[in-house]
Amino acid sequence: MIDHLTLSRPDDWHLHLRDGAMLAAVAPYTARDFARAIVMPNLVPPVRTGADAAAYAARIRAAIPDGADFTPLMTLYLTETTDPDDIEAAHTAGIITALKLYPAGATTNSDAGVKDVTKAHAVFERMEALGIPLLTHGEVTAPEIDIFDREARFIEDVLDPLRQRFPKLRVVMEHITTKDGADYVASATPGSMGATITVQHLMLNRNHMLVGGVRPHYYCLPILKRSTHQDALVEAATSGDPRFFLGTDSAPHPTDLKENACGCAGVFSAPNALACLAQTFEDAGKLDQLEAFVSRNGASFYGLPTNTSTLTLERTDAPQPVPEPIIVGDQTVTVFDPIRPIHWRVVR
Ligand code: DOR
Ligand code: ZN
Repeated sequence: MIDHLTLSRPDDWHLHLRDGAMLAAVAPYTARDFARAIVMPNLVPPVRTGADAAAYAARIRAAIPDGADFTPLMTLYLTETTDPDDIEAAHTAGIITALKLYPAGATTNSDAGVKDVTKAHAVFERMEALGIPLLTHGEVTAPEIDIFDREARFIEDVLDPLRQRFPKLRVVMEHITTKDGADYVASATPGSMGATITVQHLMLNRNHMLVGGVRPHYYCLPILKRSTHQDALVEAATSGDPRFFLGTDSAPHPTDLKENACGCAGVFSAPNALACLAQTFEDAGKLDQLEAFVSRNGASFYGLPTNTSTLTLERTDAPQPVPEPIIVGDQTVTVFDPIRPIHWRVVR
């Protein structure tokens, strides 16, 4: 049995770091295990301009422990008034890596998102010309669409028409949760499209969230789906297919706002994401594909080199405890509990 695994240092291609005290508390957990992360722009107010992104990047760097091997890759929040010249200048200056499309109202802090994608056509044209990836929160938001169908409907109603209109636009379907998403991405020309997959969507399905009681710490968006979708995601992530790569979507919220009558969406997995993934890949008999998923495929999609530094995981006979909640001021943030025993840990 394999008991040590040394990988090129992983990257996280979808991450929420927040701001202020929360940023200071959570950023060190990502910086200790990941070399780079695509940082989501859904602050309040959102990161909309090159100047906003530069200022946020400086705050992130200030929150990273001295000597950490970590680079934040910044994104802008696409709105109906995003200026193509501003994104071009920010891209040319190396400030931003991608733009994020949140359909208005789809999730946490997405009120400023796009209601009418035709209003962003000039931005898509410029992104296509410059090769800037568009990262999508792939859910339609129409109130009559069932929450479990929102991803499949996004592909049909928004994503596919968009890709036909802008065939050279490079798109990442973020945090896919369905077989529909995995199949759609797997049918695209490699290099034109990718998908991130989270730790929780690989390890859990909606029964884990809803049977025997509501478990609010598993509520995230897009919502966990049925087990056949979970199986399709595991198949995609462990296949080695370069179109699929890790985006933890680690999204911290204070525990009292999760354990609430109207709980927030988001799972905080940064502290134990890699250990959980090693277990998931081992359970699937695919440990040999872990490095492609966490360290190679994403870099290759973004046209970046694989990291030359390494990270080692070791297998332990005794299962590892779920990390303790982290303290942020007078609140805590609860860490992802993967339910199954985790026999892996990062060697630090
Ligand atoms: O569960 C989620 N939490 N999904 C998102 O899309 C946003 C995120 C957050 O910012 O908390
Ligand atoms: Zn997210």
